[in-house]
Amino acid sequence: MTKYVAAIDQGTTSTRCMVFDHSGRVVAVDQKEHEQIFPRAGWVEHDPAEVWANTRQVAAGALARADLDAGDIAAVGITNQRETAVVWDRTTGRPVYNAIVWQDTRTDAICRALGELGGGQERYRDKTGLPLATYFSGPKVRWILENVEGAREKAEAGDLVFGNMDTWVLWNMTGGVNGGVHVTDPTNASRTLLMDLDTLSWDEGIAADMGIPLSMLPEIRSSSEEYGRVRERGALAGVPIAGILGDQQAATFGQACLSPGEAKNTYGTGNFVLLNTGTEKVMSENGLLTTVCYKIGSAAPVYALEGSIAVTGSLVQWLRDNLGMITTAAEVEEHARTVEDNGGAYFVPAFSGLFAPYWRSDARGAIVGLTRFVNRGHLARAVLEATAFQTREVIDAMNADSGVALTSLKVDGGMVVNELLMQFQADILGVPVIRPVVSETTALGAAYAAGLAVGFWESEDDIRQNWAQDKQWDPDMDDETRETQYALWKKAVTRTFDWVE
Ligand code: G3P
Repeated sequence: MTKYVAAIDQGTTSTRCMVFDHSGRVVAVDQKEHEQIFPRAGWVEHDPAEVWANTRQVAAGALARADLDAGDIAAVGITNQRETAVVWDRTTGRPVYNAIVWQDTRTDAICRALGELGGGQERYRDKTGLPLATYFSGPKVRWILENVEGAREKAEAGDLVFGNMDTWVLWNMTGGVNGGVHVTDPTNASRTLLMDLDTLSWDEGIAADMGIPLSMLPEIRSSSEEYGRVRERGALAGVPIAGILGDQQAATFGQACLSPGEAKNTYGTGNFVLLNTGTEKVMSENGLLTTVCYKIGSAAPVYALEGSIAVTGSLVQWLRDNLGMITTAAEVEEHARTVEDNGGAYFVPAFSGLFAPYWRSDARGAIVGLTRFVNRGHLARAVLEATAFQTREVIDAMNADSGVALTSLKVDGGMVVNELLMQFQADILGVPVIRPVVSETTALGAAYAAGLAVGFWESEDDIRQNWAQDKQWDPDMDDETRETQYALWKKAVTRTFDWVE
C-alpha cells in the first residue's frame, strides 16, 4: 500500500508541496515564493506561468527531499488562495492577462455599477452569501473582458476559459492544452459571486449581469473525488488528483472543525475565521460571508460563516519590504517585547479597503494616536495588535450571527509561532486560543480531502483522531483594560473611512 498523500498549496505569496503520512504528520515540504506585482496603487497581480512553473518545481522538490517517487503517493490534493482570477486561451494555454489577486481593488467601479442595477451591495447576497465587493472573482473576470484587447470577442466565441488558482493548477497538471480538465469545487466556486449556494451551480442571471459567458466557467464537482491523474512527466506522474478545497476551507477541514459550532482562525497574509454551520446555510446580518465549507463526494454540502480580514501577516511583510523597519518577520516580536504596551498607537491596515465586518472599499490604512513618546517598539506592537483586534471584530460578528458565544478558538498559519500575538489574542477575545501540533492545516486539509476520496483515510473520524493540541493560551487581562483598548481600536477604524471616492 502507498504510504503517503501529497498536497499542493498555491498560496498568495508562495506555492508549496507537502507530503503527509497516515497520522497526518509532515514527511516532506518544498516551497517557492512568486513575485507580487503592483502595477499601481490598489492593484495586485501574479504571473500564472511563474506560479505553474513553481508548482512543478516544489512537487519535485518535496518528493526528492524524502526520497519518494510517484509510486509512494496515493493521491494529491490541491488547495489555493481563493478568488484570484486567471483567464486563459483554451487552445494555446496562455493567460490573456496576469492573475488578478483577491486583494486587488480595481473593480470598485464595476461593483458599484452592478449595485446600481438594484439592491446595492446586497444585490447578490441571497443567492451567493456574499456582498458585492472587489474581493471576489466575477468582477475581476469582467474587468479582464472589458480591458484586454480582443478578450470579449474571444470569450464569446468560446475560446477563453476562467479559473481560480485551483482550476489553473489542475488544468495544467492534467495536461493543459493536451486534455486538461476544467473543473473546480464548491468552496472555490462559492467565492466567485457567480454560484448559487443552494444548487451549487452557476447562476445564469448573475453571469449575464457581469457579461461572463457560461462557456468560460469550470465544471463544479465535489471537494473530494478523482478529477483526473497527473499527466506531466515528472514527480507526481500518474497520481490521482482527488481533492480541491479553497485554502481557508482546507484549514477548517485540517483543523477537524467537522461539527457545527467548531471554528478556526488562520493567520496568513490575511486572517480568515470560519465557523462550521453544518448542512444549514446561515445568512449573516453582521457583515460576515456565507460560504461552502466542504462537500465530500456525494454527501450534502457543509456550510460556514466566514470573517475575512484582508491584511494581517502582509502588514508585517510591509514593515519589512516597504519600510525596511525589520529584516525578518520574526523581528517584529523582538521589537514589540521592548515595550509594555502600544503607547497609544493603533495601526489600521486598510490596504485593500476593509473586509469583514465593514466591507468598505473607500477605506485606506491609518496609524493614529501618535505622540513623540511612540517609538519603534510601540509601532511593532500596534502592528501585531491590529491582527488580534481585527479578529475580535469578526468573532463578535460571528457570536451575534450564531447567537452562541465561541468558547475557544483553534488557530493555525504562519503567525501562530508569535507568542506575544497569541497571548494578546487570548486577552482581547477573553477566551483560550489553541494551537494544534500540525499547524500546516491548510495543506493537511487538502491532503485529507484527496486521501478520503481514494480510501487512504476511511472517514472523518480519522481526521478527528489525528488532531492533537500543542499549546493553549489563556486570557490574562482584566475586562476593563480589554474593553477600553478595543473601544480605542474601533475609534481608530472609523478614521480610515471615506478616504477614496
Ligand atoms: O481569500 C483569500 C485567501 O484564500 C488567501 O489566503 O493564505 O493565501 O493568504 P492566503
